[in-house]
Amino acid sequence: SAVEYGLNAPFSVEYHDSIPSTNARARDLAADGASDTVVLADEQTGGRGRLDREWHSPSGGIWLSVLFRPDVPMAHAPVFTLAAAVAVTRAAREAGVEAGIKWPNDVLVRHGDEERKLVGILTEMEGESDRVSWVVVGIGVNANVDPADLPDDANPTSLSAERDEPVDRRLFAQRLLEEFDALRQDPANVVEAWREYATTLGKQVRVETPNGTIEGEAVDVEFPGALVIETESGREVVSAGDCEHLRPI
Ligand code: BTN
Repeated sequence: SAVEYGLNAPFSVEYHDSIPSTNARARDLAADGASDTVVLADEQTGGRGRLDREWHSPSGGIWLSVLFRPDVPMAHAPVFTLAAAVAVTRAAREAGVEAGIKWPNDVLVRHGDEERKLVGILTEMEGESDRVSWVVVGIGVNANVDPADLPDDANPTSLSAERDEPVDRRLFAQRLLEEFDALRQDPANVVEAWREYATTLGKQVRVETPNGTIEGEAVDVEFPGALVIETESGREVVSAGDCEHLRPI
């Protein structure tokens, strides 16, 4: 089969050559009571992104979802999305690709003053009385794919395009999952690790939030993942939104 990773990961791994969406499959496994399981596919035929967008997932990428059951309040769950961004950034750097993180969880590679997207992360969860019952962290890595085969509105790049040679997907997925496993058990330290790779801090940003647009300088990130923005009228702490980096004036 195309997906013979043979991973030695701290999760049980379910492989698919082709599946509609690893996140959808992981949610079904969650409903059946599973935990500590990774669903991994060579190709997705119905991959989903944030804001219900399509996520193109051709063969050659690393499309995976991690299902686990952290014993934390619902309000802390955003930290796992940051943890995934840190884990995949570390794996990319080990593979020779200087990736950075745009708040909250886009993993990008800089080309001059342009930023190209390497990875997308989509977290879904369910809770019971304000405690997390399960979390599914979906990670889509444009690994050995030609960016020309991905929609250009996302301004995509891939590991193979950045390195001029393919990556070992088994090794990459394994490193990513090892890092993620360590970080999920240490949520208090995730934010500090995230800051190390952040491209957003110190930049002028415009964030579209559910309550309107906020513009200013991104100065920090606070647990469990909120962005602190210095605006003309004072400090704002934004817990969710679509962030755009503006050029310094
Ligand atoms: C984004 O919009 O940036 C998030 C994209 C998330 C894609 C991944 S690929 C594995 C998992 N399965 C899905 O259907 N989506 C996520």
